[in-house]
Amino acid sequence: ISSCSLLLGSSYRVNSYQRNVLDSQVCFSNGFSFGVATASYQIEGAWNVSGKGESIWDRLTHAHPEMILDHQNGDVADGSYYKVKEDVALMVELGVSFYRFSVSWPRILPNGLSNYVNEDGVRYYKELIAELHRNNITPVVTMYHWDLPQCLQELGGWTNPIMADYFVDYARVLLDTFGDEVRIWLTFNEPYSFCEDGYGGLDAPAANSSGFEDYMCGHNVLRAHGMVYRMFDNEYREKIGGHMGITLDFAWLEPATTSVEDQQAAETARQFYFGWFAHPIFSESGDYPPIMRSLIDENSKRQGFHRSRLPYFTSEEVEMIRGSYDFLGLNHYTTYLVKRGSQRLNVQPSFKEDMNAVRFQRDDWPKTNSTWLKVVPWGFRKLLNWVRLNYRNPKTLITENGVAYPRGLRDTKRVKFIDSYLRSLHTAIYQDGCFVIGYTYWSLLDNFEWTRGYTERFGLYEVDYQSPDLTRTAKLSAKYFTNVAKTGCLPN
Ligand code: NOJ
Repeated sequence: ISSCSLLLGSSYRVNSYQRNVLDSQVCFSNGFSFGVATASYQIEGAWNVSGKGESIWDRLTHAHPEMILDHQNGDVADGSYYKVKEDVALMVELGVSFYRFSVSWPRILPNGLSNYVNEDGVRYYKELIAELHRNNITPVVTMYHWDLPQCLQELGGWTNPIMADYFVDYARVLLDTFGDEVRIWLTFNEPYSFCEDGYGGLDAPAANSSGFEDYMCGHNVLRAHGMVYRMFDNEYREKIGGHMGITLDFAWLEPATTSVEDQQAAETARQFYFGWFAHPIFSESGDYPPIMRSLIDENSKRQGFHRSRLPYFTSEEVEMIRGSYDFLGLNHYTTYLVKRGSQRLNVQPSFKEDMNAVRFQRDDWPKTNSTWLKVVPWGFRKLLNWVRLNYRNPKTLITENGVAYPRGLRDTKRVKFIDSYLRSLHTAIYQDGCFVIGYTYWSLLDNFEWTRGYTERFGLYEVDYQSPDLTRTAKLSAKYFTNVAKTGCLPN
């Protein structure tokens, strides 16, 4: 395999700092990689062909179209299931060195369980991976990007501890089937999002939370991640090589004022939003952040529960989860301000109430097409430094950063967005010493943006959903990104 140098080197850091001091142009080092990302449900379509099973997103969009802004679904999406060559050609045009995509669990294991492997699903991903290698593009594969087999949801989905075992079986199938051709693995994408929103009624499975389910989901996902990492380490690494991490979503959380109260509130919020998943894996403790433990334990007692709503790890689980990474995958989009304050949203106890802090954005921060996404590039640098200081400067791949703007090929605002975030990233790396090895733009092409349907377009390539062949056309930002990926430098 020729194209798997990504993530292997680290010596470039010193060189590139020197190079940057000499050059006036902002350049990333030679070892730094640029890529693009997508996820199975958002682009593939072909939801029920060639033996694919139903996922929780198929179920939600079909049963409750009213929950999706434009009442659409991923039945057809970008039709990427039929466009391997066409999509990889776009990446070749961009000059990126890696492609992050996800495998659809129910496409490989239609019932979720490993006794039956769907051959056409295997064929599709094999073809995609082969086409990437033919073009010298490294595959970066996410095992779980939110499309749980519906059969497993019937058992309670991620709230059921058995799900960790089933995830191990699924991961084993992936490693056995694709391990020779894929060297960079991510177990999960954004567990905070799918546990909090999935069990807070917002995203699939749109289960209502009674204040337990989100923490149960998180607990089982952390166990599942640890189990798969140890399996990889013990049984596969020597045979097939490779690197395994997890993708976490971190929006920067800045204190709303300089008051001690708000500073404490912001730090508590960081521990809840990032620490929930990062602390057990990336800190030395192997466990939840102490502030999360104590606040939820206290609240649970006050609420009359006989046990904490945040489950406890066994000491074996702590050992297993601690340090279960080769690198951190980090998704970053935006920044919030935080102040002290309780957010009692409903009668049930909740994550937001537990943390006793509220986050909000300033009205004068530049808007985008996503309600939650304001343009705040300086937050990127602050966030990366927080990660550096709290988790011993882990090797980090930016697995997503991007923005949605209304349809249009002359997307100068997107160009500016990417450019400003890359400058902030550059400072974090070459001035502050954050260990970041690559940057992934979300997304290669416009796609199904979950409950926002097709109304939010994040792509470097536009998809014409009216045209029968779902025509892809480069936006201005694709040209900008090509230049960055090919030269490693930002235009002056
Ligand atoms: C996070 C998710 O991983 C991805 O699926 C989503 O489309 C983007 N962010 C944009 O919201």
